Amino acid sequence: MSDLKSEATDHVLNELRVFTPSQEVVDNANITAYMHSKGYTDFHEFHKWSVENRFEFWDDMANELHWFKKWENTFEWTQKPFFRWFTEGKFNIVYNCLDRHMGTPVENKVAYYWEGDNGDTRTITYKDLYQQVNRFAAGLQKLGVKKGDRVGIYLPAVPEQAVALLAVARLGAVHSVVFAGFAAHALRDRCVDAEAKIIITADGNYRGGKLVDLKKTADEAAAEVPTLEHVVVYQRLGTEVPMKEGRDIWWHDLVADIPEDVVVPCEEMDSEDMLYILYTSGSTGKPKGVVHVHGGYAVGVYATMKFTFDIKPEDVFWCTADAGWVTGHSYLLYGPLMTGATSVYFEGIPTYPNPDRFWEVCAKYKVSIFYTAPTAIRSLMRFGEEWPQKHDLSSLRLLGSVGEPINPEAWMWYRDVIGRHELPIMDTWWQTETGAHMITPNVTLPLKPGSATWPFPTIEADVVDKDGSSVGHEKGGFLVIRHPWPSQMRTIFRDAARYETYWNTIADVYFAGDAVHRDNDGYFWIQGRVDDVIKVSGHRLGSMEIESSLVSHPAVAEAAAIGKPDPMKGEHVKVFVILKNGYEASPEMEKELKLHVRSNVGPVAVPDELEFVPSLPKTRSGKIMRRVIRAKELGEPIGDTSTLDN
Ligand code: WT7
Repeated sequence: MSDLKSEATDHVLNELRVFTPSQEVVDNANITAYMHSKGYTDFHEFHKWSVENRFEFWDDMANELHWFKKWENTFEWTQKPFFRWFTEGKFNIVYNCLDRHMGTPVENKVAYYWEGDNGDTRTITYKDLYQQVNRFAAGLQKLGVKKGDRVGIYLPAVPEQAVALLAVARLGAVHSVVFAGFAAHALRDRCVDAEAKIIITADGNYRGGKLVDLKKTADEAAAEVPTLEHVVVYQRLGTEVPMKEGRDIWWHDLVADIPEDVVVPCEEMDSEDMLYILYTSGSTGKPKGVVHVHGGYAVGVYATMKFTFDIKPEDVFWCTADAGWVTGHSYLLYGPLMTGATSVYFEGIPTYPNPDRFWEVCAKYKVSIFYTAPTAIRSLMRFGEEWPQKHDLSSLRLLGSVGEPINPEAWMWYRDVIGRHELPIMDTWWQTETGAHMITPNVTLPLKPGSATWPFPTIEADVVDKDGSSVGHEKGGFLVIRHPWPSQMRTIFRDAARYETYWNTIADVYFAGDAVHRDNDGYFWIQGRVDDVIKVSGHRLGSMEIESSLVSHPAVAEAAAIGKPDPMKGEHVKVFVILKNGYEASPEMEKELKLHVRSNVGPVAVPDELEFVPSLPKTRSGKIMRRVIRAKELGEPIGDTSTLDN
């Protein structure tokens, strides 16, 4: 993490709309029942209690899961900033996802409605999933996979992706999932760093109708991973692919002689044993292997399923993220499965074959909770309301957003067009490193478009300056968390020093790397990454606020703002704008947009330069890479681009 260049941020976006939840929603919420059990009706009062009694809260959550052996201490610092949760507990997250449901009504419930890129479907019950995971775990055992081994997973979003993760974790091995859109060098670097013994991949797949040659890419990477022993290949397409003698084996051959009802008992793991490594891009340099463990991670993810998504037995939950991202780990796989929920598992993309694919799938499976990214919302807004209007979305009851700040304009569209002018939106702020939601509404809170609202129970978030002093309300600063929480990363794989920078950039607190401000009601407004803050004539502007102002103009679909060195102002703002279908780039449009920012946010934020572009560089998970735009604009080296999509 870089040195703190900026002091703090100014806040210029003024959003005054507030939406209160209906009494019925509040009365039926999971969080309401829990608050009542502690004697509270007001969330803010309850939150105060939860910070003061955080171990009681987390004990309660942990007690709803299955432990082979109960923990001794809820929390211990080992050597600051290293810590442990649920010490001496014996636990396996997979037992809680599968075994625990056998012999209960969940056993025959649908775990996943799988929807393929081309419209193929599969329906998988908890029992089916349990059997497939056991069978594949037995197969992996034949290849010598055991507790602590690292297994690379490079698969498309087919149910076997879930089976692979769960089978690896069942054996106590460690999965390292690499998104199937990544190139060979990205897969290689991640597998080399993790010292992977096995890579699980597929012959290929289609995404958005385009062929992805997975095995070819996996082969390129595999050739350069010294620790690699085997490549397991799932046959997704049936195309001819080269198989390396002695190294490669087909998934179906591996399990062919294993009985369908085989049971491979879950490895009884220590709470603090590694569950997975997931690489996330640092702003510079090589990707960081974020380490999560079985016990605390499971408890954190479980609690957020329950209180953020308010999950109920009859819900159909759809998290559109791929299992290649932490969102997929936590809310496509482990979270829904631990709570015995029914989920949609989607292989495709939002715009294929048409820009109503999300809405078509929502209607088809009667989705009740829908969780996606602002980038998807903004790109679908471009195509107009007629696409969602073709579908019956009346099954929806709750919407969610994750990955970036959601601009108020996109938030309103999401609520009005997808959410019938009434559905609440859970704008969940969290990170690969945090494992689960950290700042997020719950269904009882009044919502403000563009604000992630309040910290999750027990989470002590604050806005501080460089020295770690609280800046108070209505002022921008750095987002920090004052105490560890169960689902937090334990370290960076083989790079403890890099982990420590999260806790020593600002002394003794977890530094998230985001700029934020807190309003007079205590609501948090994320302004973007600290590295993307633009400093104009002494004002520090979060990229998000300028971009939101542009996106609130009817002609603008997406925008990216960067700072460029300026002899007079220190930096000036340059924006890159994608127009909505039906609008033309012209000098008049440029003038109009600048005026719009001026009246909306104020003169300091007015871009000196404005360029119309057809697309923006994004990560494969959909975040705008302002760092890349800046480097290109200034003719500087672009740095690590392994996560760059286009
Ligand atoms: C960064 C973490 C969390 C899973 C997906 C991304 C940004 C994430 C929000 C939100 C504003 C958000 C932050 C954060 N971010 N969610 N609701 N509002 N910003 O995980 O790739 O580790 O990225 O994404 O900048 O630090 P990630």
